[in-house]
Amino acid sequence: MDELSDIDVVGVVGAGTMGNGIATAAAAAGYEVVMRDIERDYVDRGLDAVEDSLDRLASSDRLEEEPETVRERVRGTTVLGDLAEADLVIEAIVEDLDVKREVFAELDEIVDDGVVLASNTSTLSITTIAAATDRVGDVVGLHFMNPVPVMKGVEVVDGERTRETVVALAHAFAEDLGKETWESDDKPGFVTNRILMPWINEGVRAYDEGVATKADIDRGMTLGTNVPMGPLELADHIGLDVVLHASETLHAELGDRYKPAYLVKRKVEAGDLGKKTGRGFYTYD
Ligand code: NAI
Repeated sequence: MDELSDIDVVGVVGAGTMGNGIATAAAAAGYEVVMRDIERDYVDRGLDAVEDSLDRLASSDRLEEEPETVRERVRGTTVLGDLAEADLVIEAIVEDLDVKREVFAELDEIVDDGVVLASNTSTLSITTIAAATDRVGDVVGLHFMNPVPVMKGVEVVDGERTRETVVALAHAFAEDLGKETWESDDKPGFVTNRILMPWINEGVRAYDEGVATKADIDRGMTLGTNVPMGPLELADHIGLDVVLHASETLHAELGDRYKPAYLVKRKVEAGDLGKKTGRGFYTYD
């Protein structure tokens, strides 16, 4: 399945934030989607999120068809075997290497030979995930950004053994979803998180060490470097638990310059995870 024209059905594993976003974007681009999660409740929540995203896209004139028509192309399931019909599978489950490797080994048994297996991992090695399968050349990173239906960029990650045609297919698929891509070698954090995580941690340390107020750190970076959000606001948006977890993975691979900021750890221990809990560096309604 090296050609975009071979792909009709996209399998998505995980119906959480990223999985349902990827399902939305793929369905909006005309693909049939089978989205799998481990419990019916999670599947249903994912399908509701797809519906909400499609309504939002439609109300801002960014959907070519009626939302109901697109929604009908997305099927939810708890049965991994239902992905057997997929021509491309994108995994978006928890950021845990052992769990991802287990799922890839199972997918390898279920889907046809030649079907590309992609991972949406933000920090884990595509090569290590691929090694759990007998199709190392057909495993690639397709790192979508959150929220998927809105964010333009997709990072394509080239594993040690990923075939060139598979990398090309990953770019072509993302572009077919209306995205723009760049490519990273399979090195810890790829391009984005390798640079973003130390930037966020440095912003938190600057605040903790009294360089400026949190508002001024965020204003300094937005006004001074023309990014849409400063490091503390962005950390709240991503989720402090996610920032901590990604930073710990990079720290283990790349050493001290990736050490998570102490204040991120303390806030995670306090349960202040950012926007999703209503409280992080800032408070939210
Ligand atoms: P999430 O926690 O919102 O969703 C993960 C979903 O996977 C949950 O619904 C969970 O029940 C399900 N799941 C767990 N094990 C499963 C299995 N064996 N089979 C099927 N489903 C399973 O997580 P989120 O944020 O969507 O992240 C998913 C992946 O995307 C992670 O690898 C993460 O690093 C990556 N990512 C996340 C971004 C973000 O901003 N949230 C941005 C870019 C990448």
